[in-house]
Amino acid sequence: VGRRVLVTGGLGFIGSTLALRLDEIGAEAVIIDAMVARHGGNLANIEGLSQRARVIVADMRERDAVRAAVSGVSVIFNLAGQVSHLDSMQDPQSDLAHNCGAQIELLEACREVSPEATVVFASTRQIYGRPLRLPVDEDHPLTPVDYNGIHKMAAEAYHGLYHRAFGLRTVSLRLTNTYGPRLRIADARQTFLGLWLRRALEDAPIEVWGGDQLRDLTFVDDVVDAFLLAAVTPGAAGQSYNLGGEQIALMDLAIMLSRLAGRGAVERREFPPERKRIDIGDYVADDRRFRELTGWTPQVGLGEGLQRSLDYFRSRLSRYA
Ligand SMILES: NC(=O)c1ccc[n+]([C@@H]2O[C@H](COP(=O)([O-])OP(=O)(O)OC[C@H]3O[C@@H](n4cnc5c(N)ncnc54)[C@H](O)[C@@H]3O)[C@@H](O)[C@H]2O)c1
Repeated sequence: VGRRVLVTGGLGFIGSTLALRLDEIGAEAVIIDAMVARHGGNLANIEGLSQRARVIVADMRERDAVRAAVSGVSVIFNLAGQVSHLDSMQDPQSDLAHNCGAQIELLEACREVSPEATVVFASTRQIYGRPLRLPVDEDHPLTPVDYNGIHKMAAEAYHGLYHRAFGLRTVSLRLTNTYGPRLRIADARQTFLGLWLRRALEDAPIEVWGGDQLRDLTFVDDVVDAFLLAAVTPGAAGQSYNLGGEQIALMDLAIMLSRLAGRGAVERREFPPERKRIDIGDYVADDRRFRELTGWTPQVGLGEGLQRSLDYFRSRLSRYA
């Protein structure tokens, strides 16, 4: 309350949800976001943000802008990044720029301007690659299958480095599939689930590639809780933690979604080859370490989370085109 807190990527899906929560609990939320084309940044996401909050539209690679943004903040929630696995294979340099170059600029700015700040970084389960065993705990080998996973793995390592070498309080959370209101639903670039939500609402068929793959899903409000806990829990600094969610096979998820929407047939399809190359098979997180450290437990079940997502987008489809 009353503290100044920075959210990078704060116009995107998870960042905006976090910024709105910070605003609600009385913090002074500062957002830096470059509104990168085809990422999830959307001004509709921050509808309702109070006058107290500040939005800086700039790329983290712009040195002066990022220094101004980190100045005087006590916590930095670092959610700026390129999320699409497929795009990272088609344009690896751009993924490198956002997921590594921009991250170094942010960390350098922290070291110079706000060395006392705590940084919570949004890492990803993608860094594990194809799981060798389930559930996947933090000691599982890191063998990413795409550029995105490799660059996020490096970014997480930079955060660890700044903790060891410069004493910055950095924590990384390895997110699994996160969903909810404000997700980018224009297409399947970032997640199949975005497109599924759109199709269910438009009464168009939901295409499931394969369908037997296991995933775990976390509702965005639960991810926001985890970020807040990670920032204030002593002993978290310098560590990386998995966040898990509710486990389900993708075909069952599609059927559940179309039932809740009351429309949208489900069709099983073969994997397109460009997707098959970078598919990770089944994934389920073991997140006991984070739960034991912080007391975090996801509060929103899949049925409720999907319903809340459908309700949010139903009246706003045109703003998420
Ligand atoms: N959504 C998921 O399921 C998921 C899973 C694992 C990890 N994550 C991580 O969580 C973070 C947030 O994901 P999201 O789903 O909210 O994505 P998003 O695309 O909705 O939001 C990311 C935001 O970052 C901004 N951005 C990107 N590069 C930037 C730069 N150089 N400077 C300033 N702003 C920049 C984009 O404009 C966008 O608004 C990402 O780092 C992502 O890797 C997300």
